Amino acid sequence: MKLKHEIEGFNFGDAVDEIEKIGAVSLGFLSNETRLALLDEVKGFAQRFPGLTKKGFETAPILQSPFVNEFLAVVQDTLNRQLGGELNVFPSKLDLMPFFIAYRVGHSGLTPHVDVHDRNLVCNFILAGNAPFRVYPKGLENEIVELDTTPGRVIVMRTAGFRGVNEHVLHSVGRTESERYVLSLRQPEEATKKAFRGMLFLQ
Ligand SMILES: [Fe+2]
Repeated sequence: MKLKHEIEGFNFGDAVDEIEKIGAVSLGFLSNETRLALLDEVKGFAQRFPGLTKKGFETAPILQSPFVNEFLAVVQDTLNRQLGGELNVFPSKLDLMPFFIAYRVGHSGLTPHVDVHDRNLVCNFILAGNAPFRVYPKGLENEIVELDTTPGRVIVMRTAGFRGVNEHVLHSVGRTESERYVLSLRQPEEATKKAFRGMLFLQ
């Protein structure tokens, strides 16, 4: 109930134009309490799979987490109501899946790339740590936008399907300066959705 109250009051609509123009935005989103509760879940997952944690991991959680599931449901409902219904940003409803991501200190990050398997919208909730997140807006080739990745913020990035446009946003992640945990909510394309469920990705 508390979670609902906290998230439903957030207005994503104001960010839509900037998401469209730049490709992604960073929004102050999580209360400290919610951030720490989500961080606990991701760290708990890491402890249960110690082999994954040497360099870091990215995974769809094969262990069900009631709190993460509740969080996902409220965020998804809010996005669907605000951006789907009122603004008609998505042709069909969002169908997000949670991915846990952990990077150890010194991880070199990710060179500029596009997330080809994702649809509509990617929401990366920064739970702890820091690494620069950069976006390379199309048509603004010399302009690299670095987003605020302070823990508690969410990076909302558009991807294929956003406003009916079949385009992915070029982005990169810099070197991990302090142990970094992210909860990523995203919608894999239909063809890869099954493969993603329960799969572990070693970095
Ligand atoms: Fe990416």
